[in-house]
Amino acid sequence: MLALSLTFVACTQKATVEPAIPQDPEIEKKVEALLKRMTLEEKIGQMVELTADVIGKQGTAEYEIDEAMLDTVFGKYKVGSILNAPRTMAITPQRWEEIISRIQEKSMETIGIPCIYGLDQNHGTTYTMGGTLFPQNLNVAASFNTDLAKEAARITAYETRASNCPWTYSPTLDLSRDPRWPRIWENYGEDCLVNAKMGAAAVKGFQGEDPNHIGPKNIAVSVKHYMGYGVPRTGKDRTPAIISPQELREKHFAPYKAAIEAGALTVMANSGSINGMPVHANYELLTQWLKEDLNWDGLIVTDWADINNLYQREKVAKDKKEAIKIAINAGIDMSMDPYSWEFCILLKQLVDEGEVPMSRIDDATRRVLRLKYRLGLFDRPNTLYKDYPEFASDEAAVVATKAAEETMILLKNKADILPLAKGKKILVTGPNANSMRCLNGGWTYTWQGHLTNLFTAEHNTILEAMQQKFGKGNIVYEPGITYNEAGAYWEENAPQIGKAVAAARGVDVIVACIGENSYCETPGNLTDLTLSRNQLDLVQALAKTGKPIVLILSEGRPRLINEIEPLAQAVVDIILPGNYGGNALANLLAGEANFSGKLPFTYPKDNGSLTTYDYKVSEQVGTMAGAYDYNAVVDVQWAFGYGLSYTTFEYSNLKVSKNNFTAADELTFTVDVKNTGKRVGKEAVLLFSSDLLASLTPDSRRLRAFDKVELQPGETKTISLTIKASDLAFVGNDGKWVLEPGDFRMQAGDQTVTITCTDGKKWETPNI
Ligand code: BGC
Repeated sequence: MLALSLTFVACTQKATVEPAIPQDPEIEKKVEALLKRMTLEEKIGQMVELTADVIGKQGTAEYEIDEAMLDTVFGKYKVGSILNAPRTMAITPQRWEEIISRIQEKSMETIGIPCIYGLDQNHGTTYTMGGTLFPQNLNVAASFNTDLAKEAARITAYETRASNCPWTYSPTLDLSRDPRWPRIWENYGEDCLVNAKMGAAAVKGFQGEDPNHIGPKNIAVSVKHYMGYGVPRTGKDRTPAIISPQELREKHFAPYKAAIEAGALTVMANSGSINGMPVHANYELLTQWLKEDLNWDGLIVTDWADINNLYQREKVAKDKKEAIKIAINAGIDMSMDPYSWEFCILLKQLVDEGEVPMSRIDDATRRVLRLKYRLGLFDRPNTLYKDYPEFASDEAAVVATKAAEETMILLKNKADILPLAKGKKILVTGPNANSMRCLNGGWTYTWQGHLTNLFTAEHNTILEAMQQKFGKGNIVYEPGITYNEAGAYWEENAPQIGKAVAAARGVDVIVACIGENSYCETPGNLTDLTLSRNQLDLVQALAKTGKPIVLILSEGRPRLINEIEPLAQAVVDIILPGNYGGNALANLLAGEANFSGKLPFTYPKDNGSLTTYDYKVSEQVGTMAGAYDYNAVVDVQWAFGYGLSYTTFEYSNLKVSKNNFTAADELTFTVDVKNTGKRVGKEAVLLFSSDLLASLTPDSRRLRAFDKVELQPGETKTISLTIKASDLAFVGNDGKWVLEPGDFRMQAGDQTVTITCTDGKKWETPNI
């Protein structure tokens, strides 16, 4: 906030930045000794990553390694890394052991350096059959419970090591700020603090506490997609983003910074461009912000074929060779060039021609070798399935079920229609009612998740779980709409709405499971955020029967339902809760578990009014006086942070440790939260700030801290949330962090307290 008495304390000297990961001198010695012995070809080979299909035989019924290709890939080109599931489909842990063991054998024999294998284990063990699948990250965000992010990551790491794989391209920390984008569900919602806290927790879960020595139960992460990927101007995947310098530094960078401070060993770059500059070509973002400003010695890997995209799509390079030069000089350390080793030939030429300095090659190679040492791959290139008896344990299933329960959001519950009374006759309808594919979304056994139903016989769909919970005799099933499973994700078969309406006549309540089928990345693009016409028609027709309707939204992003929301007595957004989502939902609908999820994104009402909770205050203004009838209104279906429970909570006594503060202070807020209802329940307590006056138009609100608490009926707990005063700073017009003197309104529940910054500060360092 700005005041006339503004007194800045400018810090002029650049503080020495502590290394993000303090190095282990023993590892560094080994890296240097090995680097000295390596030829240029060997170094360049370590900088390449190919997909598993390149070393597989063509045309065989099952994937088989092609020994001749191993000779070429490892013997000749000294390739350092392989990724992806063979034929992009899950296999058993035993098959993983065989395949990766053979790769390691060949790599050690020909190069003397272990290969690093990487997989998108994105919401659990995506590519390992029988492994545990958790809710997608957007769900985890809805729990506002960072322990869940950590625990899901810990179990995923264990089961991934049981599959002989040491590296995952997870967690995804793009901000889901444009609901049209098809990758909304892969992230922890629209807010930077939620992504930062969840991301840091996931990093610890995957990697453990010591990034220099990753044990055999942990794996290295690759936080992705650095950065600004989640706000394409068109809403379509891999199209350009336009982001202000303030928003980039303050919001998009925050989760990556937090993940790196939590020890993240690798980062994957954003496929697209920001303000016209492709991120894979951006020296400032890759080298300065990540490696120099954070003093981070980890590795930056490209996304899929994205050096090629610099010339094929982005047109910033004339050919592949120039694209390699630009990306490597910008700071890329490893090229995921899935189908081609041409990188090895072209990069060697570039070094010989003096276009890429040897120091850059050495730096990149060091980063690859350091990662392999930190993972213990030189001593233990393989991890064996037999050493992982807790693979897909019952305990993991319990964690996944509880997680799913905690991530579903009750958005409406008129006349307490939920929980559903026992003995009622229920129509279960809608295209998402009997589909494991719809519960899981993309990155499930395959990239698009389109074959999920083949892998999940032992898991319950919503329908199956409801039949078990409420008794088969009480459930009538008539989908009304079905998806064309062989078509694009949005294709539906000819509707049979009349059948569903007829079935509704004999029941007491209708549970309509609507939303989206699974998709991932570009194939998930859309042109209209509204729910499909058929599904809207289904709910409209069912409403005419007069029977109460419970809408279950199972969808990767908030599809618009303003036309049917008034027709429903209850609405539950289950997002993509994973394999245990059917059981979790049945527990909640039966009242055996309580809702505690809150929206980690803004649920929009109209296509033309897409916004986020931290909109600028000038986005919401009243009508001006006079002829110029200007107004702007933020009108949403449900707000960020909204979510109901079967019980009620009352907030009181919001207090702060210091009402007047300066930049060096810490502020502790306490608030009493009481369970005033009749059921045990969990409440996510969110602390927001509003800067009341500032030199740049302030955000309406910003989430500054959160916690989750469980309360028995009648119980009160005092929640304490501590922030640094500098958390209230913003990036000013000159690109520098600033905390301005003046008032901030802080809010938790319906409680507010005003605090005053008495002495401002401007920082000269890029990070505070
Ligand atoms: C995706 C990444 C993924 C990579 C490797 C890309 O298409 O954007 O999220 O990690 O493929 O599978």
